[in-house]
Amino acid sequence: RNQELEQLLQAHEWSSKLYHYLLKNTEYGKPAMEYLKSRGFTDKAIDTFQIGYAPARWDTLVQFLDKRSFELEAMEKGGLLSSRQDGSGFVDRFRDRVIFPLHNRSGKVIAFAGRVLGDGQPKYLNSPESKLFTKSRVLYNLHQAKNEIRKTGQVVLFEGYGDVISAWEAGVHNGVATMGTALTESHAAILRGMAEEVLVCYDGDSAGQAAALKSIPILEGAGFFQVKIALLSEGLDPDEFIQKYGAERFRHQVLDGAVSSVKFRLIYLRKNHILLEEDGKVAYIKEAMPIIAALSSPSEREIYLKELSADLQVSFDSLKQECNELRTVMQ
Ligand code: GTP
Ligand code: MN
Ligand code: MN
Ligand code: MN
Ligand code: MN
Repeated sequence: RNQELEQLLQAHEWSSKLYHYLLKNTEYGKPAMEYLKSRGFTDKAIDTFQIGYAPARWDTLVQFLDKRSFELEAMEKGGLLSSRQDGSGFVDRFRDRVIFPLHNRSGKVIAFAGRVLGDGQPKYLNSPESKLFTKSRVLYNLHQAKNEIRKTGQVVLFEGYGDVISAWEAGVHNGVATMGTALTESHAAILRGMAEEVLVCYDGDSAGQAAALKSIPILEGAGFFQVKIALLSEGLDPDEFIQKYGAERFRHQVLDGAVSSVKFRLIYLRKNHILLEEDGKVAYIKEAMPIIAALSSPSEREIYLKELSADLQVSFDSLKQECNELRTVMQ
């Protein structure tokens, strides 16, 4: 059993090295390299994240692993290969894709994510869950970010691999990502074990913002002292923002400008109401008030009530009264 795991780890390690080599040093890898360069990935990033390329063939890994006496059936179970449909052997799972190795916390390769070059479906193909890889527990780049996370007491949470990599190049070395937008309680608990503060930096599109909203109770439930949310303009994701506006603006505008979870929830709510109309204002206040009333600190409540008062041109006194009434009911 243990030996089976060791074999699978070894196979992932070697496959990762092979893919990286093929990307960097062979003709096969040229189109993938051009694709990565066109997206602004540097050689340093390609090395740091051990990015690779799986050629458009059916048997690159099959041959490579077979020659090294790995048991192909075990490799299929471990997610590196697929069974042929007629059951007559195995083929590579990843073909003609840029390969992002996924590591466990101690830095061992446990799975791959493969991206199509350009457009195509699925955009990302991941390894299936295996004895090594549990999606709900793995965070991309945690092995490289963990020291910086502990040192700063802060973790930056992204949606995508490209976001982590671009942010890294922009000098943000405490960034990790889930595999897509599904943040789990396990992810949150793992991160809380390393930091008190989390900065959620999801995509600026509506899916990303909705995912950020959903992440708040999970992160607060895990006991983070501070949950902040970065706001990205124009529907950009962090990678696109950095490519467009540069590292400096990303750090100073997006990360330093991140708002509290309460503020984010209010901003999010506000977008759904038409505040030019009285109905809209009333409805917005009705939904915003429980968020503010739930704050235990009187000065924090006052800050948000003052903002609301100025924003809606409703007197602070009436908002405060409403807030206090709600608090009595809530207790
Ligand atoms: P790029 O287009 O390469 O910049 O990817 P992205 O990270 O910006 O993609 P997107 O914002 O669409 O999705 C965020 C994350 O969701 C990705 O990094 C993946 O982890 C995941 N994801 C996106 N598309 C797919 C898919 O087709 N299949 C799977 N399994 N995951 C996906
Ligand atoms: Mn290298
Ligand atoms: Mn997205
Ligand atoms: Mn994205
Ligand atoms: Mn992207």
